[in-house]
Amino acid sequence: MYKINENYCKLPGSYLFSTIAKKVSAFSAANPDKKLIRLGIGDVTLPLPPSVIKALHSAVDEMGAAETFKGYAPDQGYEFLRSAIAKNDYKNRGVDISIDEIFISDGAKSDSGNIGDIFDADNRIAVCDPVYPVYVDANAMSGRTGEYDKALEKWSNVTYMPCTAENGFVPELPKERADIIYLCYPNNPTGATATKEQLQAWVDFARRNGSIIIYDAAYEAYITEENIPHSIYECEGAKGCAIEIRSFSKNAGFTGTRLGFTVVPKALVCGGVSLNSLWARRQGTKFNGAPYIVQKAGEAVYSAEGQAETKAMVAYYMNNAKVIREGLAAAGFTVFGGVNAPYIWLKTPDGMTSWEFFDYLLEKVNVVGTPGSGFGPSGEGYFRLTAFGSLENSLEALKRIKSL
Ligand code: MLT
Repeated sequence: MYKINENYCKLPGSYLFSTIAKKVSAFSAANPDKKLIRLGIGDVTLPLPPSVIKALHSAVDEMGAAETFKGYAPDQGYEFLRSAIAKNDYKNRGVDISIDEIFISDGAKSDSGNIGDIFDADNRIAVCDPVYPVYVDANAMSGRTGEYDKALEKWSNVTYMPCTAENGFVPELPKERADIIYLCYPNNPTGATATKEQLQAWVDFARRNGSIIIYDAAYEAYITEENIPHSIYECEGAKGCAIEIRSFSKNAGFTGTRLGFTVVPKALVCGGVSLNSLWARRQGTKFNGAPYIVQKAGEAVYSAEGQAETKAMVAYYMNNAKVIREGLAAAGFTVFGGVNAPYIWLKTPDGMTSWEFFDYLLEKVNVVGTPGSGFGPSGEGYFRLTAFGSLENSLEALKRIKSL
């Protein structure tokens, strides 16, 4: 008789954003007259930029003509896109990444969930607490996280690195074993950033201890301050100890279009085996490439028009972030983030738990956010709002929250 992957049964509840979506749907069904403002999941709301739409249209036309039709994409992605990435995201920042170190994918979520495939089940992962839930859940599915302790809300084989207001939401270097270290900066959910020096300390730690860093840089386009690295490869020695994951979702509005990439440097070698070859093998077997039309759309992001349009998009969301952050601070809330990231991380008022505040906001003022505890135990007592709504909705949400 067949057996299921029992690791799935150890997962507590459903995926955070599915739980929230269910709660919100139930509320909407019971209160059809209430106008909800959704600042929960980090999903963009502005339409795709004109240069991207133009590239999509023209690629669709190519697909309709025998001479220009494309079937399966090359395993690692089209060279035109990988070259644009190598030049714009890396070379222009003084980082040398070759196109065969770049793997195009259908988004950072898939890659951050799938990257564990190339590592032994016996590795111990270290994560920030709070953390984007995909890293932990995906490792739990592979049986790498041990047993889940409901009371502690922790897995037995995971090294949790608390990110608190005291440490500026950048964790201390771990004292216990940490083979695979997940870092995300600018950070989801806290909106914090790590300086070059802080990130360099992580790279040095990984090199000293034979660890690998999985660096999620999905929000790098939101960095506004100096001395904040856009890529981990800006740090000395990072190519020997880090994989970087990037997305087109947040910088160019591709959440529904799906495009991302992962950099696996050729310098990453473990026991004589190249991680780049392993990831190529994994992707070649289990992934058939992002669609040609979407890769053409991605290429357009790097055109002069695309760059101007996507910068304007990011600026629009960052203005929302400023409005929410400053408005809440003026109303007496303790707020973090929102300066180099599209997330505002606030302390819940009056000692409310994160989920109590979630319900309170939903029921009293019909505003949807994300409870901090959904991202890990150190998120308890915090709440996340996104800047990805419209300015009008951001202002209205602020007004409603202030009215409480
Ligand atoms: C979030 O809200 O944390 C993100 O949108 C989730 C994601 O990017 O997958």
